[in-house]
Parts: sequence; structure tokens; C-alpha cells
Amino acid sequence: MMDHMTIRINSRIREVLGSSTLAITAKAKELKAQGKDIVNFAGGEPDFDTPDSIKKAAIQAIQAGKTKYTPSVGTAELRQAIATKFKRDNSLVYKPSQVVVSCGAKHSIFNIIQILADEGDEVLIPAPYWVSYPEMVKIAGAKSIFIPTTAKTNFKVTAAQLKENINERTRILILSSPSNPTGMLYSKRELEPIAELCVKNNIYVISDEIYEKLIYDIDAFTSIASLNKEIYNLTFTVNGVSKTYSMTGWRIGYAAGNEEVMEYIKKYQDHSTSCPSSISQEAAFQALNESEEKVRAMRDTFKQRRDLMMQLFDDVPEVKYFKPEGAFYLFCDFSKVGDSEEIAKKILEDANVAVIPGDGFGAPGFLRLSFATSSESIEEGVKRIAAWIKKNRKR
Ligand SMILES: Cc1ncc(COP(=O)(O)O)c(C=O)c1O
Repeated sequence: MMDHMTIRINSRIREVLGSSTLAITAKAKELKAQGKDIVNFAGGEPDFDTPDSIKKAAIQAIQAGKTKYTPSVGTAELRQAIATKFKRDNSLVYKPSQVVVSCGAKHSIFNIIQILADEGDEVLIPAPYWVSYPEMVKIAGAKSIFIPTTAKTNFKVTAAQLKENINERTRILILSSPSNPTGMLYSKRELEPIAELCVKNNIYVISDEIYEKLIYDIDAFTSIASLNKEIYNLTFTVNGVSKTYSMTGWRIGYAAGNEEVMEYIKKYQDHSTSCPSSISQEAAFQALNESEEKVRAMRDTFKQRRDLMMQLFDDVPEVKYFKPEGAFYLFCDFSKVGDSEEIAKKILEDANVAVIPGDGFGAPGFLRLSFATSSESIEEGVKRIAAWIKKNRKR
């Protein structure tokens, strides 16, 4: 048997952290399976079922024998449907040959980082950030440069902040809008100076737009690549069907950008995953051709739940939340209550509520609470958290 000392792991992979969000979600599921009455605010997925019309398309695909390899970058039909979606929703003109379909948007982002970032390159990541970005950068052998943001700028990075962190090794900026975990949405006006800076310094942008359709107060989503030709040439626009159509388990995401780079992504995918599931691709094709009504109905429900969760926390003075403009997370400052990792652990153990500590997002002191759950669960969960805080209040 190999003992601990003889196991040799690739030095880049050895440093990779596990996903804190997936770990807590798994723990909550485990406790639930043991019969515990857990309220789950940890999940990163819509609680709705995938719409029937999409499921039907998948069933039909199986019955029609669409069960074989497709081109590794996805079927021609799906890539065309994605190009049509970009034109329709984002005013972005991409040829299907600029589009690669992958096994989730996470996979799309991973691929782009591995293709673009070389050993020693620097990648700008505004914090709080989605947990996976820095680990993907580590795997590429590149270096994450975290740029802290605060409530003062609604957790959005400014061009001035970015400028201070640019040098000759800076290769990529990763933007998430609406953001996971803060829910903040960059307006056109906020994106313009960032785009200008990236163009001036020849920095690629990975624009993670996975929560594009889940925005609440204004109906104006802007893709940074749509601002002008120069930034279009530098941007890789990432999206997928997971969050918009409640299809997280189907694993379909996509990216579009410079054709030459996308050709490298094709090669990378050729030798790693090959194509994403042929059946899921058929389902995604159906999703992209769905009417907007279903998406709007889900969005409206999320909005009601967001408002409910905020309203309930209005009565908990120790907790300060930041109104999210998109996605389905309430980002809360718990620093008055204590250490965020400790609180998350205790709230799960003592109050049976699963929440994610901000530490993994580069935001210690904060907790991320998902409102992708029923109104009853939101009421019950916040009630339990409030009672827990009251009981543990420092005297
Ligand atoms: C910001 C962000 N980007 C990308 C993803 C990945 O989504 P997918 O399920 O398509 O891989 C997620 C999922 O949690 C996310 O929150």
C-alpha cells in the first residue's frame, strides 16, 4: 500500500482548495438525509424543476437515437442557436465558429483561463469573487491579483482600482455581473471605463454572464463585449442554461470570443472531455428557443423571495445586508456577530440552517444566503438565524 509520503501530486494541483460552497451543500444534504430538518440557504441552484418542454426535448433526443458523440465543440444547431441568442439578447454578433459549448459555464471559464493564462501571468479578480476563479488560475500556473471592493462602491471594482494593479504581466480580468456572491450588476456606464482600460492595456476580459436573466429592479443588462469593437475583440463572453432554465444538472455552458482562441479551446476539449452530453445539448437547444415567459415567471418569484428575505432581516439589527440587483443570493455582513466560518458552522449545527461563509469568496465576515428556496423556508430559516443570534449575543 502506498503510504502518505510516497504519493506525488502535481505541484499546481496540490495547492488547489476544495469548493467551500459544494462542501457545505454536501454537508447539508447529508444532514437532511439523516432526517434533520435543514433549511438550505447554501445552494447555488434554482429550486424549480427544469421546464417540461425542455425535458421532453431530451426524451425525444434519446428516442431518436441522438445518443452519440457530437463535434467536441457542440452541435452546429446549438452553436447557431447560441449565436442567435447573443444577437437577440446582447447585441453581440458571433459566428457559430466563435462559439464553444462545454460541460457547464464553469467548464467554459476553466478552459478559457487554461488557454489564455501562462505560468507567471497575472489575472485580475475583483473580490468578493466566485470561489472557483482563483483555483482555476492556480491550475493554469498563473497568479490571481485580488482587488478588494467594499459596500461604498456596491462591491463593484472601478477602473481606477484596476489601473493600480496593472503591469506587464497582467493578462486577464474576470468580471462577474450579476455577481456571485454579491448580486451586484455593472451598468453600461460602469463598464465603459473598465473596457477602455482593458483595451488600452491589451487585457483580455472573461465576462461571466451566467445570471444575466435573473435581474430584478432594472431591465438593462449590458455585456461588456457589446460596448465597442476593441473590447469585443478582447472579451470572452460566458453564459449557460444552468441558472436561467433550472438546468444545473444538465451541464451545458458556452463561451464565445476570438475565433483563433476558440480553436485552441476546441483542441483542449478534443483531448479532455470531447463533447458535452448529446442529450443535454438537445435540451439546451430547446431552452434557448423557449419563450421568455417561463424565465420571467421564475425571475418574478426570485424577486418576491429576495424582498421577503430582506424584509425579515430588517428586524435583525446585527446583520447588514446589501440589496442584490441580480442572481439569487443575499450577501450579508455578519461581522458584528462573529467569525463567519465559525458562525456558518454553528448555524448549521445549532439552528439547522445551511449558509456559506464569505471566506471562500474573499469576504471574511460575510455570509451568503441563497433565496432560491420557498418563502416558507425563507421565513423559517431567517427566524432560526435571528433566534440563534439572540441566544448567542455577546453580553
Ligand atoms: C458566477 C458563476 N459562474 C459560473 C457558474 C457555473 O455554472 P454552470 O452550472 O453552468 O457550470 C456559477 C455556478 O454556481 C456561478 O455562480
